[in-house]
Amino acid sequence: MVQYTDELKEEIRSANDIVDVISQYVSLKRSGRNFFGLCPFHKEKSPSFSVSVDRQYFHCFGCHKGGDVFTFVSEIEKVSFKEALELLAERAKISLPVSENADFNKKQYLKDRMFKVNAETTLFYHERLYKPLAKIAQDYVKQRKLDNNTLKAFKIGYSGEYNELYKYLKSKNFKDEEILSTGLVNKNDNGEYIDRFRKRLMFPIMDVSGRVIAFGGRKLDNNEKMAKYINSNENLVYSKKKNLFALNLAKQSDSKKIILVEGYMDAISLYQRGFNNVVASLGTALTEEQGRLLRRYSEQVILSYDSDGAGQEAIMRGLSILENQGCDARVLQMDGAKDPDEYVIKYGSGRFKLLVENAISLVEFKIKMLKNKYNLENANDKIRFLKEITKILSDVDNKIEREIYIDKISEQYNISKEAIYAEVNKEAYVSKNTEKILISPIQRKEKKEEINQTIVKRENMIIYLLINHFKEAYEKIVTNIFIEDFKLEANKLLFETILNSSAEDSDKILQIVSNIENPEIQSHVSEILVTDYEINSIDKCIEDLVNTYNKERLVNRKIEIIQTLDSGSASLTKEEIAKLEQELSSIIVELAKRK
Ligand code: CTP
Ligand code: MN
Repeated sequence: MVQYTDELKEEIRSANDIVDVISQYVSLKRSGRNFFGLCPFHKEKSPSFSVSVDRQYFHCFGCHKGGDVFTFVSEIEKVSFKEALELLAERAKISLPVSENADFNKKQYLKDRMFKVNAETTLFYHERLYKPLAKIAQDYVKQRKLDNNTLKAFKIGYSGEYNELYKYLKSKNFKDEEILSTGLVNKNDNGEYIDRFRKRLMFPIMDVSGRVIAFGGRKLDNNEKMAKYINSNENLVYSKKKNLFALNLAKQSDSKKIILVEGYMDAISLYQRGFNNVVASLGTALTEEQGRLLRRYSEQVILSYDSDGAGQEAIMRGLSILENQGCDARVLQMDGAKDPDEYVIKYGSGRFKLLVENAISLVEFKIKMLKNKYNLENANDKIRFLKEITKILSDVDNKIEREIYIDKISEQYNISKEAIYAEVNKEAYVSKNTEKILISPIQRKEKKEEINQTIVKRENMIIYLLINHFKEAYEKIVTNIFIEDFKLEANKLLFETILNSSAEDSDKILQIVSNIENPEIQSHVSEILVTDYEINSIDKCIEDLVNTYNKERLVNRKIEIIQTLDSGSASLTKEEIAKLEQELSSIIVELAKRK
């Protein structure tokens, strides 16, 4: 396997500011020296994910993932460290030496050619739509009420017969390998090249930056045996779970909302009627990657799935994926049409706009689904419904939000507010009770953790000082604090590594420490590096630490002597006892002086 040099690694690292890179995935807010946001690696509601500008490290205090920019990219894109490095090199437009990775360069070149094949193909299909031979497609777009601006904006086209595209692409000097890699043409058993898309209405699928990466083709006749759509298969440049149809257009919209629909035609039809903030998933259930994309380009996502199509499960899953990304997700409710395209044609854009404005949250959606299970005319059903509602409401953390829901539910389902409050309070009371039963062991546990936390913090500070202020701290620390003083295994290992290294400055130490190939240690180091210890004076800080350890040693020795004198004095000589007593009194004097 090809290994990159450390110099190259460093060049790539310094060309990719960690805050910039992470900001593409997580919305970060500055707080002092660090940035904070919702961790992309675990589900959370309040931000415990932090990024240190100074040290170029990230760390999550919730799930304890942490590391440098390479670690972040490899974790979030689920690729190897080497691939992360290559992605970041590409991002920073740093070319990797040919001799160092011939495979990578070859792949890059092929990708580049595939983009060119797709671009030429888009043009070929689009121009073909306007030719007399495309009458069937022209009639179809008329019937679907698509106007010419829309055809242009989406570069909609009409695919040819047999091998027309193949011949065209060959005339443009593309190689067979380049053409076949896009899946636009297949080679059959007889060795003939046949176009994949024939006589279909063509929708180019573009990535966020507007490059064509794939195609969807709709059949134009009513032949039941033919698939309504065929789409490009996944390939080097196309991954359907990482893209959204029309996102390249929606990202330009001023709106903070994005409407998510199921079909190409829904997105196109809404766009034509003034909704320039619509995207379509590509024939899959919403994926986490798509959720992240939506989060990056919007503040609120409105799920507008077909009224008959996706089950409530799909909506629920979509909503929770989005909420986990920190998106405000809503569901649009539509009656009287099977999909947004049909709705907007039938009732107009004004009515659709109202639906967008009245889209409901996950909690409201869950309650609505629940309601379908009960007959609210029936008293027993009503009570059960109320109990279930309370469970849903207990997931709402925000008190004000909860009250708003209670108001809405009371009005909508004709249940008295008092009844809902009573039920909610009962639930709260019950859960409080169980808390009480658990409180003593939990409190004890917390107390224990508290002591550990002070020790952990103290030890971490020592490591922090050794890494960040090596020159000022090293001598003073290693002459007064010893490996036996450390309780945490990770800190022991770090301390030992630093002691045994011949490094003479902070940069070198950081490099040595980042090279320890153990994810737990890396996570621990990054936690240390992104923590603000609020150190005003390094000397004073070290003095305090040394004093603490000295004092602790005296206290431990005191206890040891007392125990010896108490239990073992019979086996000691008079002189030994006198000696211990003398030591004890000097320790007591010393400790008293320190108070
Ligand atoms: N789809 C697909 N293959 C199919 C049917 C659907 O890939 N055989 C995908 C397409 O991405 C399509 C989406 O699922 O856009 C939703 O399907 P549908 O609602 O049937 O598509 P529409 O875009 O609404 O198409 P039309 O209005 O022309 O029926
Ligand atoms: Mn449709």
